[in-house]
Amino acid sequence: MRDVSLLVLGARQLLTIPPPPGGGAKRGAAQQADLGLIADGALAIDGGRIAGAGTTADIRARFRLRSGGVEIDAAECVVLPAFVDPHTHVLFHGTREWEFERRLQGSTYMEIAAEGGGIRASVRMFRAAADEALLADSLARLDHMAAFGTGTVEVKTGYALDPEQELRALRLIAALGERHATTIVPTYLGAHEVPDEYRAAPDAYVDLLVERMIPEAAALGIARFGDVFCERGVFSIAQSRRILQAARAQGLGLKLHADEIEPLGGAELAAELGAVSADHLARVSDAGIAALAAAGVVAVLLPGTLFSLRAPAYAPARRMIDAGVAVALATDCNPGSSMTDSMPWVIALACLQMGMSPAEAIVGATYNAAAALGMEGERGSLAPGRRADVQILAAPSYARLPYHVGSSDLRDLILGGRPLIRGARPQPLRRG
Ligand code: NIG
Ligand code: FE
Repeated sequence: MRDVSLLVLGARQLLTIPPPPGGGAKRGAAQQADLGLIADGALAIDGGRIAGAGTTADIRARFRLRSGGVEIDAAECVVLPAFVDPHTHVLFHGTREWEFERRLQGSTYMEIAAEGGGIRASVRMFRAAADEALLADSLARLDHMAAFGTGTVEVKTGYALDPEQELRALRLIAALGERHATTIVPTYLGAHEVPDEYRAAPDAYVDLLVERMIPEAAALGIARFGDVFCERGVFSIAQSRRILQAARAQGLGLKLHADEIEPLGGAELAAELGAVSADHLARVSDAGIAALAAAGVVAVLLPGTLFSLRAPAYAPARRMIDAGVAVALATDCNPGSSMTDSMPWVIALACLQMGMSPAEAIVGATYNAAAALGMEGERGSLAPGRRADVQILAAPSYARLPYHVGSSDLRDLILGGRPLIRGARPQPLRRG
């Protein structure tokens, strides 16, 4: 009998999301849909980690609450890992409603970008904003994400596009991690767009990135990944290759905004360079899918972006899963193409627009999302030893997540073994 600090008992459905044999991402239809569901399930949690997962009878037989411990009754509830959101741009200040209205009238995202709007509009707002304003806005977005069940958030730089300001963005992302209970994973995206100052000579900006910005960013020791917006009119395949090779040379993991608007071959580039993920992929080619599968690159799909852009087609999730590509889901939370903080809404879109089953989408939002950050040994599963990031939904079945569109049934959120939201009433989520 082992003493533990937290017990979650009597869950109608406990989704343990077991890692596949041999570890790594969950690939193929059987793994992608494998929730490890236990009826009348329970968790024992201690030292911020999962000590045991099983039936309530099994957990009661093996663990008991130490004095001062907390017992949570999860009767009539679904218990699953907190979501991992592996692609966001939450560090921004100021929004772009006027672009949204123009897009409703028929302008395209790339037309607005070419006129100096889009990412460059957000860059002007970022550069003019005080640190505290950026932090306050972004912390509020993290509060919303947590209220939808998210416990880990990747955050990209990329609204600064200047050597000093991109370092400031990295420091601010680190500050988000210090001030908020969610886990923040920083990515350097100095190659989000060609800034106003370099429109006449975009290769000079690529030189600046490769020779100075990426080495300085890596030296700061905050970023885990380097990323690039590889798209016609932004960074070409050849420029993206140079940028990513520079990031790799500095020890950063690689990510790529790939094949979102045109099938440029970003997926193939991700495979060639051994990126941890290729993201977007609405227009990925069959050769690109085969390359992702062969190289074991996780596909991060962002259906909220395609919905918000009224794109003609979503990413071919079914074909990717059937080809053996691990599929993850993310919000892409950003002020231009996907102004959302809700992983449940992304799960709903994955089911309703991309033909994924609720189980496949939940694996995509937890375990495979962690794999897209190289964190599948740590997050996105309730296997013993994993960090205890757990959400409890007041719902009879996991299918409630996509079924109850645009809402949240989150009742409790436990991060690092600490219950931070109880009864859907936020307790202090922020530190310091
Ligand atoms: O992932 N594609 C590039 N970056 C974002 C859009 C950012 C913006 O418009 O502010 C994306 O969709
Ligand atoms: Fe993005």
